[in-house]
Amino acid sequence: NGQLTTDHLLTINDLTETELTDLIQEAIVLKQELKEGIPHPHLQGKTLGMIFEKSSTRTRVSFETGMLQLGGHALFLSSKDIQLGRGEPVSDTAKVLSRYVDGLMIRTFDHETIEEFARHATVPVINGLTDPHHPTQVLADLMTIYEYKGTFEGLKLCYIGDGNNNMTHSLLQGAALTGMNMTVSSPEGYQPDPGIFKEASIKASKKGADISFSTDPHEAVKDADIIVTDVWTSMGMEDETNERLTAFKPYQVNSKLAEHAKSDYLFLHCLPAHREEEVTAEIIDGPHSAVFDEAENRLHAQKALLKKIMKK
Ligand code: CP
Ligand code: NVA
Repeated sequence: NGQLTTDHLLTINDLTETELTDLIQEAIVLKQELKEGIPHPHLQGKTLGMIFEKSSTRTRVSFETGMLQLGGHALFLSSKDIQLGRGEPVSDTAKVLSRYVDGLMIRTFDHETIEEFARHATVPVINGLTDPHHPTQVLADLMTIYEYKGTFEGLKLCYIGDGNNNMTHSLLQGAALTGMNMTVSSPEGYQPDPGIFKEASIKASKKGADISFSTDPHEAVKDADIIVTDVWTSMGMEDETNERLTAFKPYQVNSKLAEHAKSDYLFLHCLPAHREEEVTAEIIDGPHSAVFDEAENRLHAQKALLKKIMKK
């Protein structure tokens, strides 16, 4: 039940395989304790500052509630209201906030911003989503997969849709670390970042797992144990909405596509979702969908992370 070797969680790659598995186990314990009403004030008197430069429902509420349940406190800091939004440097903001709080969570655009934050902060920094990474969501996704499937070994995860967004990249790193097979299916021009994809493939192959890409969603989804999709237009890309609607149309997760998956496949989506765009209502509201367990698990997985990263 050790602490983490990393000071910050900026991407899934900051974790070792053992740390990731331990986090999931810890999350399962905390979930059980919460359901049984057993208090777990591991962060008594500690404060988490949460800076949001983009909207959020799940991340904000799960971190805030999670800190309270751990005996601590969380501060919601919208960049619109703090001096950061008026041009105070990231470095000064990180140094100042580190004098008050015991941990920082940031949701922002460029990944460089959070890296700069982490360089200047003297407390742990957690990535609450950047354009290329969403590690805390993938902690919850992996926990959900583990709860439903009982293992990662031999599973095939198929991600369909925008291959170049935060969810795909963090899932690729998560699959590589847990040894799951993963296929990404996206249209030309929306492939994952080549560096992240290559690194994940190499890591996975050392574990005997396979990471692949196909522009053909039917081929990609064949025998999948888990189907994952995400919005076609991520936050900050709104100008491209129309061209994306056209490009991604053949990549909708619907019952015809899901026919090619295993009969007990699990459907995941980090939410918010657009019904009848990236996924039909039939699928997301259907018997294979675990999207609300997945959303709930944000709370438990992040509490495990907070406990381990802030207690150092
Ligand atoms: N999945 C997720 O991060 O949701 P929010 O944008 O609502 O935080
Ligand atoms: N890819 C989405 C995830 C939202 C939680 C986005 O960045 O908007």
